[in-house]
Amino acid sequence: AQITADQFSVFNQELNEVERKITTSNMTASNFSKEGYRHFMEKEIFEQPEVVRRAYGDYVTGAIKGALFEKSNASDLGEIKHIQICACGTSYYAISQSGETADTLAALRKAKEQNYIGTIAICNVLESSLAREADRCLPTSAGPEIGVASTKAFISQLVSVALLGLTLGDSIGFSKETKQQALSEIKRLPELIEAVLNMSGQIEELAWDLDGRHHILFLGRGLHYPIALEGALKMKEISYVHAEAYPAGELKHGPLALVDEDMPVIAIAPSGQLLQKIMSNLEEVRARGGQLFVLADDENITKNGFEKSLILPSGLTMLQSPVVYTIPLQLLAYYVALHKGNDVDQPRNLAKSVTVE
Ligand code: G6P
Repeated sequence: AQITADQFSVFNQELNEVERKITTSNMTASNFSKEGYRHFMEKEIFEQPEVVRRAYGDYVTGAIKGALFEKSNASDLGEIKHIQICACGTSYYAISQSGETADTLAALRKAKEQNYIGTIAICNVLESSLAREADRCLPTSAGPEIGVASTKAFISQLVSVALLGLTLGDSIGFSKETKQQALSEIKRLPELIEAVLNMSGQIEELAWDLDGRHHILFLGRGLHYPIALEGALKMKEISYVHAEAYPAGELKHGPLALVDEDMPVIAIAPSGQLLQKIMSNLEEVRARGGQLFVLADDENITKNGFEKSLILPSGLTMLQSPVVYTIPLQLLAYYVALHKGNDVDQPRNLAKSVTVE
C-alpha cells in the first residue's frame, strides 16, 4: 500500500492498483500513546480493570451471544461434547491476541479440513486471518496491545473464555443461580485487580530482592499451574532470567535438586484445598535454603516465617483467583526487567506476531 496524509492506494502482487473494502477502525490516538507510563507494557497492565469491564459489558449487552450465534442458530453449539483449544505463547494458556500466529492458524486450517463441528476464534483483532477464517469470532476487546509481552490480552482472553463457557452453558441448561453467581464473580474482578495494582510498590520491592538472579522457579497447583507457567514466561521474555514453572506436586521429582540459596522459588499459594499441600512443598524448599517468595491470601503465611510474601485479596473463587494471581506476576517481571534496564516493550529476539512456523 502507498499511504500519504490524505490518500492511499493498494496494489496486488503484480503491482496493479486494486480496490479494497474500507472498514473504519474505532482505535484512537490514545491507544498508541504511553499516557504518562514508562512503557506500553506498564500502561497495558494498568488498563486491565477496564479491559475486564469491557469483556463483561460484551456479555451483558449480548455481544458475545451475537458473535457466537449470528452465523447460524444455536443447534450445532448444543451438540458440543468436547472443545479443543489451540494457541501459542501467552495465549497457549488462553487463545490468540493477534490472530496471525502461524502455528495457531495452521491448527485452525487443519480443524476445518477435518470437519470439526465448528471453529471459534477468540481473538483481539477482528480483521485478522484467524478471525476471518474461523466460523465464528469472539472478540476479546482488549484494545491494541503494543508491548511484545502480552498482558491485558491474556486477562481479556481468560475472562472471555469464562464468558464463552457461560454462553455455551445456556445451551446445556445452566441454572439461573449458577449463571448469576458466575456473573457477579466476574463483575467484581476489576475491583480485585485494582487492589493488586495498588500493591505495585510492594511488588517492586520483591523485584529488587530478585536482583542479580539468573534462575527462578515458579510453582503452582491445579488452576494456578498455568498461571505459574505464564509468570515464568513473562519473566523470561522481558527480564532474560531463566524461569521455569512446575506443578508444585512435581517439585520432588526433579526440580528440588536445583534448589539452594541461589534459587529463588515463587509460589502461588492461595487458600483452599491445595494450600496444605503447597505449604509442605514450600517447607521442602526452605529446608534446602531456597529463597521463597509466596503469593497468598492468608496472613498466617507471613507469620510462618515466609517473610517475602505478598498478601492478596482473600475469598477468591475459581473464576477470580487465576486472574488476580496473574497481576503480581506480570508486575514482578516488569520491575525485574526495568531494574536491569532492559527494553521492556521490545525484548531482544522476540516479535509481537510470529507469522512463520
Ligand atoms: C508472540 C508474542 C507473545 C504472544 C504469542 C502468541 O510470541 O510475543 O506475546 O503471546 O506470540 O501470539 P498471539 O497473537 O497468537 O496471541
